[in-house]
Amino acid sequence: MFNASEVQPSLVRRPVPPERLDFLSREILALKKSMNAVVLAHNYQVPEIQDVADFVGDSLGLSQQAAKTEADVIVFCGVHFMAETAKILNPSKKVILPDLDAGCSLEASCPAPKLKALQDTNPNFYTIAYINCSAEVKALSDCIVTSGNAVKIVEHAPKGRDLLFVPDENLGGWVMEQTGRPMTLWKGDCYVHVEWTHQAITRIRQQFPGAPVVAHPECPKAVRMLADEVCSTEKMVQWCRKTSAVDIIIATEAGMLHRLKKECPGKNFIPAPTDRCACNECRFMKMNTLEKLHACMQQGGPEVVLSPEIIARARRPIERMLEISALPMENAG
Ligand code: 13P
Ligand code: SF4
Repeated sequence: MFNASEVQPSLVRRPVPPERLDFLSREILALKKSMNAVVLAHNYQVPEIQDVADFVGDSLGLSQQAAKTEADVIVFCGVHFMAETAKILNPSKKVILPDLDAGCSLEASCPAPKLKALQDTNPNFYTIAYINCSAEVKALSDCIVTSGNAVKIVEHAPKGRDLLFVPDENLGGWVMEQTGRPMTLWKGDCYVHVEWTHQAITRIRQQFPGAPVVAHPECPKAVRMLADEVCSTEKMVQWCRKTSAVDIIIATEAGMLHRLKKECPGKNFIPAPTDRCACNECRFMKMNTLEKLHACMQQGGPEVVLSPEIIARARRPIERMLEISALPMENAG
């Protein structure tokens, strides 16, 4: 199981000096052309990476982009499991990422052999895996979900089966609340999102009484209950664009604020505080820097490598997710 005490606080990053930022950004754009590469970046990436990416989005949007890209090389700025997903969808393409060690506490909480042992206790399990898991876990699953489509996919799951949801207990709990479908939940969590507490959110609400709270479903139930909206990072952009509120409290990883400020000018985004500190940065997401992105494009690596057998087995549950996601709502249940 992932041990939160092993997580080092994120290092204070020194801002990239403007001349260096300009130089690296121009080089990256030139490399994209010469390599016929596409740069995909998650909403939690540092602003300077988001600004040179071809697409910035949530896990669902990134998988959809990876599935349809015609580029020869996919440069994935996110965490390792996201780059693996892109590789599974594009076995013949080269997928590179700035830092191979960019993991995820959820992925670490669910080793494939442990999942297999649990599955063996009940042949009627239908395994739904949050995309934040390894390729080996995806290969053992029936369908993948992201926070953006989990409710729809659970509603679509076969009725006579016992649903097993891995590895995020909080996302799974939220999906059960939304769908009314009971599920066995794996006991994993995101070490960033569990830092938010009922107390801390109550305090910031008192400071900004009119401001709605938008929280990611990886937050604990006590926080989700206080939120005006619980949704994936991409849906946060849509929700914040539509609301008439100007001040909005955001309970998710800090990188999201850059995207929100860009997409919703004139609004004031307040990062929800935690009880202990400003722990709202994912140290894994923040392993990627503009320097490392540049270096990985210049060197053509590190590269994601997966066995053809794992790719073949992990591909079907991801494709099933993409197919169900694309269904109109009334056909999805
Ligand atoms: P989204 O798919 O909502 O962007 O979430 C990914 C993630 O890792 C959240 O911690
Ligand atoms: Fe994993 Fe949490 Fe980081 Fe998302 S924010 S990549 S769930 S550790």
